[in-house]
Amino acid sequence: MSGGLAGDALAGLWQSPPSLPARWFYDERGSRLFDEITRLPEYYPTRRETEILRAHADEIAGRCVAETVVELGAGMSTKTRILLDACTALRPTLHFVPVDVSGVVLAEAAAAIARDYPETTVEPVVADFAEPRPLPGRPGGRLVLFLGGTIGNFDDAQRGAFLGRLRAALAPGDHFLLGADLVKAPSRLLAAYDDSVGVTAEFNRNLIEVLRATLDAEGLYVDDFEHAVRWNADQHRIEMWLRARRDVTARFRALGRDWKLPAGDGVLTEISVKFHLPDLHTELATAGFTPVDAWADPAGDFSVTLARAN
Ligand code: SAH
Ligand code: AVI
Repeated sequence: MSGGLAGDALAGLWQSPPSLPARWFYDERGSRLFDEITRLPEYYPTRRETEILRAHADEIAGRCVAETVVELGAGMSTKTRILLDACTALRPTLHFVPVDVSGVVLAEAAAAIARDYPETTVEPVVADFAEPRPLPGRPGGRLVLFLGGTIGNFDDAQRGAFLGRLRAALAPGDHFLLGADLVKAPSRLLAAYDDSVGVTAEFNRNLIEVLRATLDAEGLYVDDFEHAVRWNADQHRIEMWLRARRDVTARFRALGRDWKLPAGDGVLTEISVKFHLPDLHTELATAGFTPVDAWADPAGDFSVTLARAN
């Protein structure tokens, strides 16, 4: 995948402002740090989505009666088990296809699920979920999961393209279950992305180490960058930045290029869009999905939508 990072670095780091796609966070260390994030008191999305799935998994499974469950950006597939329990209660022989760029974590999670669900065939796929590819399973018998609010890590154009490609890969009657974080008080959002023990800061700064190691960079040091978070109210999104603590001059030997970042300037490393549910449902409809049902947790923090491909 270093070809991909080289291309993304060339396309993003010399722009103003410099940026990189969020997928590069997830080397093994980044994936484990994300898993820690999901247990932080300030990071409510995982707990809220878990609550929603616990309350509605049977209903979701009953609506789809899925033969094939594809999970995009599966990670550890922890919450997924709630859905697998509900799906296998209705149809014991399930085909489960977790898709993720993080190969080590994916393999671990897939092995654990294969062990715990002996009648389920598990087929992990290391791939970029933003790239078009045919989906396994019988038309009409598929359920695609995209949980955790990962849809928020796309900007508007990327999200439209992603939903369109997903719909094109599905057939009428297939289902799509989408977890999305909702707009709320900026103070809570900022705390969720800038936790008091600094795990999110380490997750963000780990990207510098990924860049250094993958692109053979000289003069690039994690300690020269600090984690910065901003709520962009106009675009209702959290932005994570890596801000230079001093003037940075690095040489990317794998690219044959020098890179400079003046002290105080930043690299945009992640956006996390927060949604108003009606707008998200309009986007789903535009892409060719009919929202069948949607649930939020009692606090109204997070949403899960079940949609059917038209
Ligand atoms: N679904 C899990 C994990 C969310 S974290 C949950 O809800 O907790 C986002 C996951 O998506 C990570 O496992 C990361 O490795 C993966 N990911 C990020 N960008 C990706 C991409 N472009 N293609 C495939 N997987 C990606
Ligand atoms: C994976 N994704 C939905 C997370 C989010 O909340 O946007 C990634 C994350 N970044 C910092 N904390 C969590």
